This record gives sequence, C-alpha cells and structure tokens, in this order.
Amino acid sequence: MKHIRNFCIIAHIDHGKSTLADRLLDYTGSVTEREKQDQLLDNMDLERERGITIKSHAIQMEYVHNGESYILNLIDTPGHVDFSYEVSRSIAACEGALLIVDAAQSIQAQTISNLYLALENDLEIIPVLNKIDLPSANPEEVTDDIVDLLGCDPEEVIPASGKTGLGVDKILEAIIERIPPPKGNPDEPLQAMIFDSVYNPFRGIEVIFRVVNGEITKGQKIKFMATGKEYYADEIGTLKLTQLPKNVIKTGDVGYLISGIKEAKEVKVGDTITDAKTPTKNMIAGFENVKPMVFAGIYPVDTEDYEELRTSMEKLQLNDASLVFTPESSAALGFGFRCGFLGMLHMEIIQERLEREFDMTVITTVPNVSYLAYTKKEPDTPIVVNNPSDLPDPSKLDRVEEPYIKATIITKSDFVGPVMSLCIDKRGQITNQTYLTPERVELSFDIPLAEIVFDFYDRLKTVSKGYASFDYSPIGLRASKLVKVDILLNNQSVDALSALIHADNAYNIGKKMCEKLKELIPRQQFDIPIQAAIGAKIISRETIKALRKDVTAKCYGGDISRKRKLLEKQKKGKKRMRQVGNVEIPQQAFMAVLKLN
Ligand code: GTP
Repeated sequence: MKHIRNFCIIAHIDHGKSTLADRLLDYTGSVTEREKQDQLLDNMDLERERGITIKSHAIQMEYVHNGESYILNLIDTPGHVDFSYEVSRSIAACEGALLIVDAAQSIQAQTISNLYLALENDLEIIPVLNKIDLPSANPEEVTDDIVDLLGCDPEEVIPASGKTGLGVDKILEAIIERIPPPKGNPDEPLQAMIFDSVYNPFRGIEVIFRVVNGEITKGQKIKFMATGKEYYADEIGTLKLTQLPKNVIKTGDVGYLISGIKEAKEVKVGDTITDAKTPTKNMIAGFENVKPMVFAGIYPVDTEDYEELRTSMEKLQLNDASLVFTPESSAALGFGFRCGFLGMLHMEIIQERLEREFDMTVITTVPNVSYLAYTKKEPDTPIVVNNPSDLPDPSKLDRVEEPYIKATIITKSDFVGPVMSLCIDKRGQITNQTYLTPERVELSFDIPLAEIVFDFYDRLKTVSKGYASFDYSPIGLRASKLVKVDILLNNQSVDALSALIHADNAYNIGKKMCEKLKELIPRQQFDIPIQAAIGAKIISRETIKALRKDVTAKCYGGDISRKRKLLEKQKKGKKRMRQVGNVEIPQQAFMAVLKLN
C-alpha cells in the first residue's frame, strides 16, 4: 500500500491533460512502441475525432523511484462542463491530482471548478504549468496566477510540456513524494467502490473499482450492497493498456471485475462491493446523484425499432451513468423515451453513440430544462415538467418555477461589455465582477438554465472572440412566466414540435419557428400551412407552397448520372424523416427552435 499512488489529472478543456497522460505512460514504459499513438486514453472514436475526453479512463503504471518500485493509478478525466459528473467520480477514487494549467491561457473557469471539487475531496494538488514550449507562453505571469489561486510556493509549480516531454520526470517524482499513499485497512472485510463500468458485448459488464479496505480475490463470492445481489469474482485484474488478470487486488489499488453480469441495471456506479459471507457494515458514502439538466425525447425513426432502442439505451447507460430515460409516447412520433442529459454536448454525444455503437437511427426532439408547475386547484403540489405536454392548461395554471444557475465567466477586460449584454439579453442578472489581474475579469451572473443550455456557449465564444471561459452551478428555482408554444402543420398539432418558452419571447420565437420550419420542411404536392399557437390562439402563420414540378424534370432527361445522384441525395435525406399525418418532417425541424437567431 505504501507503494501505491492514485491520482487524477484535472484541467480546463484543451489545457493538455490527455497529451500529458500519454507522456507519463510513455516515460514509465507502460506502452510498447507498437501500441503508441496519440491520445492513447481517448479510445472512443468519437473522442479521437473531436479531440476531447468524454469518459474517464483508468490506467496503471509502474515506476521505480530511489530504488523502490511504485504502482501509479492514473485516472484521466474529461474537461467539458457537461462531464463534470465523471470528474467527481474519478476524484473520489484518488488521493492526489495534477492540476494542469496552460501557460498561454492561464487559469480558466473549469480550472477553478475542478480544483474546488478536488479540494472538497481533500486531494493533494500538484500544480503543473503546461505547454511552456509555446511561443505565446507566459510562464512567470501564469505561475503567479497559480500561486495566487492555490496559496502555494512558486517552487511547487512544475513547468512542463506534454509536447516535448519536459518536466515529466519532475511530475512523477512529485506524484510519489507529495501524494499520500492510500489509507485503508487490509484486515477489514472487503469494501470497494465502483467508480465506472463498461459494457462489453462478449464478456458482459466490466466493473471498475477501487479497493478501500480489505482485498478482493479471484473466485471470491461478493455482494453489491446497493442492489443486494451476489456474484462470483470470475476475473479480476489491473488496467494496463489492456486488462491484466490477477489473483488478488489489494487495499488501495484500482482494478476491474468481470462476473458474468449481463443486465445493465445491476451495476450502480457509486455502489460498494463487499464480501458475501463477511460483509462490511458500512457502505462507502455515496456519490452525489447525477442531476440531468436538459430533457429531450429520443424516438426511433422506424417505430418497429422501439425495443431495440430500449436495450441500446440500457447498455449505453451502463457506460454513462449520467444518462437517464423513461418511456414516453407522442401522438406524432409514437413510442420513445424522455431522456435527461447533463447538457447539449452530452445529448449530441448520446445520439451519436446510439448511432455508431448500436446502429440506431433516432430522432431527437426539442430539448428543454425541467420546470415545476403548480395548479390553482393544488397550489402546494408541484408537478415536474420535463416535457412540454406535461405543462397544465394555462387556464388551470397557478404558477411555474424554472431552474436558475450561477454562471461564472472569466474573460479579458476588453470583452466585459459584450459579455454583459449577452447575459442580460438572456435574462441574466450580474451579481459580481472581480478583476483577477488588470486584464482578466471574473463575472458572475444569476441566469435561467434554459437560456444557457442551448446556444449560450457559442454566442459567448463569438462575442469574446474566444477569450472567455464559462462554468456554472445550479442555485435553485425561481418564479417564471412560461408558456407552451404549439406548432400546427396542415392544421394538425404536432406534439413533438411544441416548446416551452418564456412568455416575453413567445411571439417572437413562434414567428421565427414558423419561418424556420418553412425552410426545413420539404415542399410536397399540396400547400402546407404552418402555424404557431399558444393555447387556442394562433400567433403566427406561414405556408409551404405546393411543389409544382417533379425535381428530376430539371435534368432534361439527358444526364442520367446527375439524375441518379439527385435521387440518391433525396433518398439519403429521407432516412431521418418522420411522416406525421401527411407531412414529412426532417430531423432538423425538430431542433429548429434551437437554430433561430
Ligand atoms: P480534453 O480531453 O478535451 O479536456 O482536452 P485535454 O486537456 O486532454 O487536451 P489535449 O491533451 O487533447 O490537448 C489539447 C491541444 O493542446 C492538442 O491540440 C494538443 O496537441 C495541444 N497540446 C497539449 N500539450 C501541449 C504542449 O505541451 N505544448 C503544445 N504546444 N501543445 C500542446
């Protein structure tokens, strides 16, 4: 145990965590020449393509220091605000954290929020000044910023570069010398915390755990405390780049477990594993429950795929404990699921993973946050509104409350004006403004969550020319004037297109939605009226004119390849369409409300 160190790497997005992790693996000889490739730990295709870390990853290294051999368990964590849940779980499995700060960008919003998470868990922080090879690096100034933030000595800050490998030796030395070994008692009954799980179609569910007390041996009969289910530890091992089977995983160490679990529901991240015969009395203090921020419907394009979609979502949920879903049905789309996500990026990723990993074609409906509504009849009993159709009729409605967040934005002083106008435009109220340095300002706002989950981040980047970082935390519910804007196509209300909108913006948004839908819905053989309505009142109207000529007519009958191309293009476009009544609606139309402006 004296020779184990469990640590994570935390940083603001793009400050170089994954690159530095590659360097650590390389330096400790944990990967062979053949296995080497960039961003080793970002092993999902999606992570590679987008260059971001979505899942946390655990990997074990061995390192000899002063003649003694150490085991280092590294847990790489994602940086995007949508995935902070992953960060909090990883942090709970560690004693220390490398805090990576980009020497050109300095401290950003998630540097601070992740640092707070680590400090709340009493982790030892090793500050790393990364990317010092960059010509734009500002090592002295950024070191001062770090010293101010942590209250540490300047000597404690390790200058490094994930690109050139500079400083990697110093980092490893610091991990061994500054991070305490795990505590735990090897003689107590087994108590291990599940901090991740992966679905493997061939081997069942792989559980990733950290042993807190006692030890786990191959073949041992174990029990998952939250579910009460018992299993045999068929295979246990450590996580190298591939899995390495072992006979025992000792106190303080991190490992994987395979025990023939096939049902996604049986594994709960945060659960405690113990011995079936002599169980521990104490469950490990649970994680914070994940609270989804955004809700949207996910429906199969082909109604027959509903059951398959359910199984796929269950499997995905195992790999991503922050995804929640419940069955729902829509008059327009049939059977599907109302899903909760941590944010819009999370939603996009789930949709893409469903398509790539499970070969599902799905339609996602307009996302909204979760409101509380109260009726006049029962003014003290809240109704949770996760779906526009849950909002009671306006005539019966007493009041609505919407979730607010505290937003923290760090930007350059030049952009304070534009950032403030954006926040005010989004119904925000400024609560604090602090100059961190003469050029860098921290702004705090109370702002409705609904206003920031959609395009806020993109707009913030635009108004600040990229020089703004952003983080948020929920601060509870406040009274709101909310209405449901319905859309009628061909005089028929399409429930999947309804959106919950603040009353002051409803007319404007209703009008823009009609215009946008006119653009997005393909013309058909007849005129299609598009109307926006609040209750029985029509607030806007557009018409998609009937198609007069066959589209292929413009090919003059001559150029056959062009004609075929056109047909193929049409066919492809059709893939993600839903027939509602006699109108065909493409996927983009369901998201139209997000792309207004
Ligand atoms: P997320 O996983 O998305 O949170 O990002 P990350 O913090 O893991 O950053 P990543 O390692 O993906 O690096 C972000 C970008 O910075 C990449 O383009 C890297 O090539 C580059 N980068 C990382 N480290 C260094 C460095 O030391 N020097 C220079 N010049 N570039 C670096």
